[in-house]
Amino acid sequence: VREVREKKEKNKSRQRFWELAGSKMGKITGLTEEEKAEGTRAKDALEEEAGGMEDGEDGDYKGKSQFFTHLKKSEANSDFARNKTMSEQRRFLPVYEVRDELLQVIRENQVVIVVGETGSGKTTQMTQYLHEDGYTDVGMVGCTQPRRVAAMSVAKRVSEEMGGELGQEVGYAIRFEDCTSENTVIKYMTDGVLLRETLREGDLDNYSAIIMDEAHERSLNTDVLFGILRQVVARRRDFHLVVTSATLDSKKFADFFGGVPVFNIPGRTFPVEVMFSKTPQEDYVEAAVKQAIAVHLGHPEGDILIFMTGQEEIEATCFSLQERIDHLGEKVPPLLILPIYSQLPSDLQAKIFDKAPEGSRKCIVSTNIAETSLTVDGILYVIDTGYCKMKVYNPKMGMDALQVFPESQAAANQRSGRAGRTGPGTCWRLFTETAFRQELLAVSVPEIQRTNLGNVVLLLKSLNVDNLLDFGFMDPPPKENLVNSMFQLWALGALDNTGALTPIGRKMVEFPLDPPLAKMLLVGAELGCADEVLVIVSMLSVPSAFFRPPDRAEESDAAREKFFVPESDHLTMLHMYQQWKKNGYRADWCSDHFLQAKVLRKAKEVRQQLADIMEQQKIPIRSAGSDWDTVRKAICAAYFHNAAKLKGIGEYVNCRTGIPCFLHPSSALYGLGYTPDYIIYHELVYTTKEYMQCVTAVEPEWLAEFGPMFFSIKENHSSRLDARAKQKAAKLAMESEMGVAAAAAAKARAEE
Ligand code: CDP
Ligand code: MG
Repeated sequence: VREVREKKEKNKSRQRFWELAGSKMGKITGLTEEEKAEGTRAKDALEEEAGGMEDGEDGDYKGKSQFFTHLKKSEANSDFARNKTMSEQRRFLPVYEVRDELLQVIRENQVVIVVGETGSGKTTQMTQYLHEDGYTDVGMVGCTQPRRVAAMSVAKRVSEEMGGELGQEVGYAIRFEDCTSENTVIKYMTDGVLLRETLREGDLDNYSAIIMDEAHERSLNTDVLFGILRQVVARRRDFHLVVTSATLDSKKFADFFGGVPVFNIPGRTFPVEVMFSKTPQEDYVEAAVKQAIAVHLGHPEGDILIFMTGQEEIEATCFSLQERIDHLGEKVPPLLILPIYSQLPSDLQAKIFDKAPEGSRKCIVSTNIAETSLTVDGILYVIDTGYCKMKVYNPKMGMDALQVFPESQAAANQRSGRAGRTGPGTCWRLFTETAFRQELLAVSVPEIQRTNLGNVVLLLKSLNVDNLLDFGFMDPPPKENLVNSMFQLWALGALDNTGALTPIGRKMVEFPLDPPLAKMLLVGAELGCADEVLVIVSMLSVPSAFFRPPDRAEESDAAREKFFVPESDHLTMLHMYQQWKKNGYRADWCSDHFLQAKVLRKAKEVRQQLADIMEQQKIPIRSAGSDWDTVRKAICAAYFHNAAKLKGIGEYVNCRTGIPCFLHPSSALYGLGYTPDYIIYHELVYTTKEYMQCVTAVEPEWLAEFGPMFFSIKENHSSRLDARAKQKAAKLAMESEMGVAAAAAAKARAEE
């Protein structure tokens, strides 16, 4: 019964994502009645088939693909790269054929847009070409990536190609991890890292050239870099900028830089046959697993790539695949199942590039990281669920949430293209052709138009961009988002009434953290508990350290409970970290307590880096000893905007919006049944309900002290009205300030 209920919940929440997406983006239509009915039939059929499997009718999958319009056997493919040396592989890439032409265009133009299919060699080769052409004699060649995984793995590959050690000639930098040295001439980094470097060095004097890679992804930081680098190009005649894109939307980029040349790398791709599901799939994890097994049993040599939305689903898919393969036993050739997602340890990430041993097949299960950022050779079969995770600002909640959305048509085409890199391939889309044409957006909405801009606002303000609407955005964010983000920063005390950076705001910019976390550190220092807050902030910056093996769930839950601090999940983390420290930071202590040593070590590193910044800023790091109430106060000072009031058992309502939210079952407060009247939470997650993640009990006086714009201690009618009027006035002032500035800018433009 529980299983059925869980399945129902899952389907319901998926249906909700479609609806949500439809209401957000205004273009997506729901399923028709007919499609819904078909979906139910498909589900029944699938369940039947799955049932058959459990009865031990293995091998039954061969040719059983009635859900797909048709199925074609693709040509047997011999892995062309298997026996090639690295330099042979380099010379085989499409970009190699146009190397000299490309270098000449870059020499003659300060900005060049380069367009080429994924896998043509843009990311790994162009930095080396610039190096070979002498650019590194006068500065570094930098290459930005929207994703950490890509920055690390590409740097590793390039340092291998150049025959050196990673971190020497070729290095990488991501947040909280700098793997470069004095000898580094080619530096891969996330776009966020370069953006922060512009704070210190406005003209990027260390670099002779920057390659802004994956520009088509339109990540928030890349979009801000577009505006900043355009100014650098204008100021530094000796600086070269290359912008790469995997898609053909390059004209927009070229226009943005004033009509610069677009260089096309001629593609070398094979046809990919695209198969749509005849009916919508109710459970895409299950459908993907079945299709992968069908491919493995019924199709010639060639690797499989499955697209899922995130870690949990990827793990579930891998587990289920492995289970079926084990079940099929020795009769079938081995299938190497390899997950990849951003939180996966990097040594495991690297495994996706290993060649499958002769006679076996590789099956990679990935997030959209493998869409364009990473290229794996030898993929002939792609299975696309049709969904991706995106960060979207939810104005109702006043915060960002990572949610599952249908992918865009452009993304679907990128994904299917992954099957045609080394031979003619096949892509199975686990959604209908009607859904593809009618429900998917043509291209995704750029991140800058859908997320909270707190960090961007802080950064631009500290770069002295006073009028944000006048900053050179390629696609400006909606004014409402900008005003909301400014309002939040004002409430945190980072901006004053005129929208200018305050001294606290200036200090907050120094930390590579979300504004509330930076605020927590600063208040912690003021209250004399920076030592404790440093640990909490570091623990919040890494994945959860608890691990819960399915076969030892109860045992691990019991171990976790031993660390519980009744009034706070934040303090629970602190307690755990301090115990780890007390036990000599030992790895065996971690495994005894169901904790991941790797994650804790990462938290320790992050802590050290944040402590270094505090030291540079001459901010004292003192300990509050056993006075953990002060620590809770510092947490409250940063998260009062996420305050909630007790309503029922485990149920709270958000103090500002009145929206119901629930204690997560993993919370210490839930586990110990202690339900204080007021709490603050770190973030909300949407699964079946709105769950608050990481909760701490607070005193109502603290809310009034730190968030007077939201709360007053005597909640009588007039003081509430008063508070609301103040809020409204502040927001209006900000809007009008921006309006005036925008009008002045428009006037100036008109006069030009
Ligand atoms: O950037 P673009 O998509 O144009 O191509 P790339 O990432 O430079 O990839 C070029 C080649 O390098 C591909 O054939 C990849 O298989 C290979 N590569 C690799 O083997 N290992 C990596 N970590 C990255 C790329
Ligand atoms: Mg690339």
